[in-house]
Amino acid sequence: MADFPQMRLRRLRRTDALRALVRENRVEVGDLIYPMFIVEGKGIEEKITSMPGIFRYSPDRLPLEIEEIARLKIPAVLLFGIPENKDETGSRAYHPEGVVQQAIRVIRKSVPELIVITDVCLCGYTSHGHCGIVSNSQVDNDRTLPLLAKIALSHVEAGADIVAPSDMMDGRVKMIREALDEKGFQHIAILSYAAKYASAFYGPFREAAESTPQFGDRRGYQMDPPNVREALREVKQDIAEGADIIMVKPALAYLDVIRQVRTAFNYPLAAYNVSGEYAMVKAAAQRGWLDERQVVPEILTAIKRAGADIILTYHAKEFAQWLQIE
Ligand code: PBG
Repeated sequence: MADFPQMRLRRLRRTDALRALVRENRVEVGDLIYPMFIVEGKGIEEKITSMPGIFRYSPDRLPLEIEEIARLKIPAVLLFGIPENKDETGSRAYHPEGVVQQAIRVIRKSVPELIVITDVCLCGYTSHGHCGIVSNSQVDNDRTLPLLAKIALSHVEAGADIVAPSDMMDGRVKMIREALDEKGFQHIAILSYAAKYASAFYGPFREAAESTPQFGDRRGYQMDPPNVREALREVKQDIAEGADIIMVKPALAYLDVIRQVRTAFNYPLAAYNVSGEYAMVKAAAQRGWLDERQVVPEILTAIKRAGADIILTYHAKEFAQWLQIE
């Protein structure tokens, strides 16, 4: 009955208004989290070569940038710290005067309503660059857990709204939840990097955060890229331990994982559009090989269409700016 020539799918593609009327997925600035790199020191604003448009700021340089983010109506930032000194146990990660702790206080003062999320991990703070305590050339899961809980607690004490563990140790969500609850922080949420893959797309980030492992790689704790059933187990486990928001990372080569997690769990779902995904777009755009103003909205929409509610992306500011110009 409703077959060609009676049925014509092009009818609803005829004008901008008709296309907008039947649009199934939309990305809003309110869906985005902007990741930021904070470096210890004063008066620092450094370019990151492999991530054009992204800078490392010292805490004192944050207010202007944070006001701009608030003006663009980006609801949340995710903070990564780069300490002046690293050691075997990453002790600057949980120091009350650590770089992230300082940054949280500065942001709280300049734009109190901005959601402050912190990355909870050791890799940027350890001399060996691994995400945990190393013994016998292995990352020791259970010895790492109390340190992760200490980091999370110190971020929350400084004023963080959400803590986001990215280390991929087993049991970290539970440990962090218990540590926060014990100190009266029952109201603070955990965004867990639940299905985080051992991906080469983190390359530019490791330059930005100076967190490249000094020996070996992260395949002993981050997930093996071919696996998807295992991702569902990781997510299930983190939810059981008390995660409030779950994340799949990276996003673009893992859209099927995002979809499957969305179908299996009724939890807020975030996806991380990582540094390598950003760098590829920027490199092609700089050569004039891609139109980034079209490609970026297409990419972000694809991540939403796959099932993500929230997108962590280095494109957040420019995306918001483009919407304001239109
Ligand atoms: C730290 C961490 C990494 C990223 C977020 N948190 C790097 C890694 O695991 O090596 C990557 C983010 C990006 O590439 O944008 N564990």
